[in-house]
Amino acid sequence: MLLQIPDLLDANQLGSVRQYLDQADFVHGKATAGKAAGNVKHNLELDRAAPMRDKLVEAVMSTLLAHRVFQAAAYPARVSTPIFARYTEGMGYGDHVDDPVMGEADGRYRSDVSLTLFLNDPDDYEGGELTIDTAFGEQQVKLPAGHVVLYPSSSRHRVEPVISGERLVMVTWLQSQVRESERRALLFDLWRAREQLLAESPEDETTKRVDVSYVNLMRMWVEI
Ligand code: NI
Repeated sequence: MLLQIPDLLDANQLGSVRQYLDQADFVHGKATAGKAAGNVKHNLELDRAAPMRDKLVEAVMSTLLAHRVFQAAAYPARVSTPIFARYTEGMGYGDHVDDPVMGEADGRYRSDVSLTLFLNDPDDYEGGELTIDTAFGEQQVKLPAGHVVLYPSSSRHRVEPVISGERLVMVTWLQSQVRESERRALLFDLWRAREQLLAESPEDETTKRVDVSYVNLMRMWVEI
């Protein structure tokens, strides 16, 4: 399932993230890539030792984790520390699949869901599309600032070379309580139907049946 979440960050939040990133040090991104991915990765990443980085991460990640649509689409169990990446002219990230196991030795987790948060507008750069190989062919994603795309970490994907301007994103990965992407997609659909029924006719017998089915299907599939 490829899912977009619009407007995760508002203009104020985007302003402060970009202000921070404008004056921060970036290093070459190869250091954080696996072996095969490292060969095709050409970007810059916010230095892990950058001052006040934790505050930036906390501000963005707490907004993400509190978002109800994100919760219902991803069922996050463990979330990685995000990477803030910059692609300037000529930079890109060739075809690859994200590492299956992430984290340090004391806190390893499986990557089930990959996430990109767009931090500047599509008009700011030419090229730089995120191209994802899906069951229905390749799909290209280039979203307005503040929008998010989620996709299964098992998908092959790439970032097309930036032809002009600069692409600024945050990427992160998570282990989901629901491992299979088909199950997450089915739960998400049912969650949306349940949300609508609860809003429109909370006392209806149909609403109650859908609610119980959603909750118990989730109970059947979650791994804690
Ligand atoms: Ni990737």
